[in-house]
Amino acid sequence: MTPTNHVDLTAIMTALGGRQAMQDVLGVGASAISNYVARGSVPTHVRSKLYNALTARGYQVRLDDLSIICGPDAATSPAAKPMILLIIGGGIAAYKALETARQMQRLGLDVTGVMTKSAGQFITPLSVAALTNQKCYDDLFSLTDEAEMGHIRLARSADLVLVMPATANLMARAASGLADDLATTILLATTAPILMAPAMNPAMWAHPATVANLEVLRQRGVHMIGPTEGDTACGEIGSGRMSEPADIAAAAFELAVKRPQTLAGKTAIVTAGPTVEPIDSVRFIANHSSGKQGYAIAALLAARGASVTLISGPVTLPAPAGVKRVSVQTAAQMQAAVNAALPADIAICAAAVADWRVAEARHAKLKKPDHQNAAGMQLTLIENPDILASLGQSDQRPKLLIGFAAETEDVLENATAKRSRKQCDWMIANQVGAADDPVFGSDQNHIMLISETAVETWPRMLKTELADKLAERITMEFLT
Ligand code: PMT
Repeated sequence: MTPTNHVDLTAIMTALGGRQAMQDVLGVGASAISNYVARGSVPTHVRSKLYNALTARGYQVRLDDLSIICGPDAATSPAAKPMILLIIGGGIAAYKALETARQMQRLGLDVTGVMTKSAGQFITPLSVAALTNQKCYDDLFSLTDEAEMGHIRLARSADLVLVMPATANLMARAASGLADDLATTILLATTAPILMAPAMNPAMWAHPATVANLEVLRQRGVHMIGPTEGDTACGEIGSGRMSEPADIAAAAFELAVKRPQTLAGKTAIVTAGPTVEPIDSVRFIANHSSGKQGYAIAALLAARGASVTLISGPVTLPAPAGVKRVSVQTAAQMQAAVNAALPADIAICAAAVADWRVAEARHAKLKKPDHQNAAGMQLTLIENPDILASLGQSDQRPKLLIGFAAETEDVLENATAKRSRKQCDWMIANQVGAADDPVFGSDQNHIMLISETAVETWPRMLKTELADKLAERITMEFLT
C-alpha cells in the first residue's frame, strides 16, 4: 500500500458530510483538501484518519483504496440486512427469544421467527410476528406456507439460524438428523451457520446423552453460546441457564454479518488452547484453556480475508470456517508447528503454553511410592521453549507480534514487563483465575491492550466481540 494509491475523495467527502466535515476530521484547512482532491491521493496518516472516521460512522471501507463497500444505511435497507431465522424451542426461556429478537433488530438484523410445537406452550406466534414484523412459521405442512415460502427456501434465505432455547430434546433431534417438524427440517436444510443457545435443567445438561449430542453438533460446526451457571427455571443451581439476550444477539451479529475483506493477502498464525505435557503414559500437566479466545481470533481474522493457520492444543472446538488448523499436544510440538507456518505477517499467541514439562516422561504408568518410603513423589521439571519470545527474536519475526498475558495479580505491571521481555508489539493482559470470572473457559473476557506507547482498557465483552475488535485494530495497524 503506498500513499500514491488513488482515493475517491469526493465520495469520502460526501460520506463524511461535506468539505468542512472533512477538514474537521483531518484538522487541515481548505487548501490541503483541494490539494488532496487534485492529486486524487492522500498521505498515509491522512488515510488512517479517514478510515477511522468512516468506520466510526458505520461505513464499511476497503483498506487499500478507502472505497466504500456499504454505508450505515445498509442496516436500514431491507435488501442488505442480514436475516436471522430464529428457531424458538419449547422451554421456559422461550420468552427471552422476544427480547433477543428486539436486540438483534437494534443491531440492524432482520429476524424471522420459527416456533416448535412446544414453544407454543410458552409464547404465541402472534407475539413473535408482531415483534419481528414477519410471519412466524410453525407448521411444516402448512400448504399456504409451502406455496408462499417452502421450508427449503426458508432455510436457505437465512444468513444465520439461531436456536433458542436449544432444549435437550431439540439438540438430540438435531444431532440425530431428524426432520420431523419445521424447526428440525430447517436445521437439516440450511447451509447458513447455526448458533444454539442451550437451556435446560443442570442434570439434563450434564447427562452423557446431552454431552454426546453437544459433541456431535460441535463437530459439525454448530456454534454454541452458553449455557451459564446460575439459578435455572426448575429451581436447581448449576450449568444450564440460557445466556442473556444481549450476549446471544451479539454472538448472532458476529456470525451473520459479513466483514469487509480488509486483511485479504495477509497471513496470520494464531496459537490457542492449552498444551498438554505428559508425566507418564496416562497422566499429564495441562491447564483450563478452552481455546475459545484463540479460535474466535482465528475466525475473525479469516472473516476479514486473512489466510490463517491456527495451531491448537487439545480442545473440543470445531475448526473455524476458512482456517487451517494444526493440532498439537505439547509446547515443543506447538513451537515446531509455529516455525513451520512462518513467514507470516501477523502472529497472535493466545495459547496457554505450559511453562514446564517433565524431564523424563515415563512410557509406562508411574507406580505410587511404597508406604515405608512415602516421602512423596518428586518430578523433575524442565523449562519449555518460549514460543512467543522466540518469535520476537526470529529472523522471520512477523510484522505484528501479539501475546496474551494471563495474570492473577499486578496485571498491568506484569504484562508490561512480559511485553518487553518477549519483544512483542502488543501484549493483551487478561486477569484470570477469579472464582466468579476465571476467563479460562468462559465466553467473555476483559483486557488491556499494552503497546510500547499506550495502554487501552477494553470493556468486558464476548470473546467473539473482542476478537472482532482486535481484527479491526490489526487492520488499522497495517493501514498506518
Ligand atoms: O482458551 P480460553 O479458555 O478462551 O482462555 C483464554 C486465555 C486465558 C488462555 C487467553 O486469553 C490467554 O491469556 N492466553 C495466554 C495464556 C498464557 O500462557 O499466558 P502467559 O502469561 O503464561 O504467557 C504470555 C505469553 O507467552 C502468551 O502469549 C503465551 O502464549 C506465550 N508463551 C508462554 C509460555 C511459553 N512457553 N511459550 C509461549 O509462547
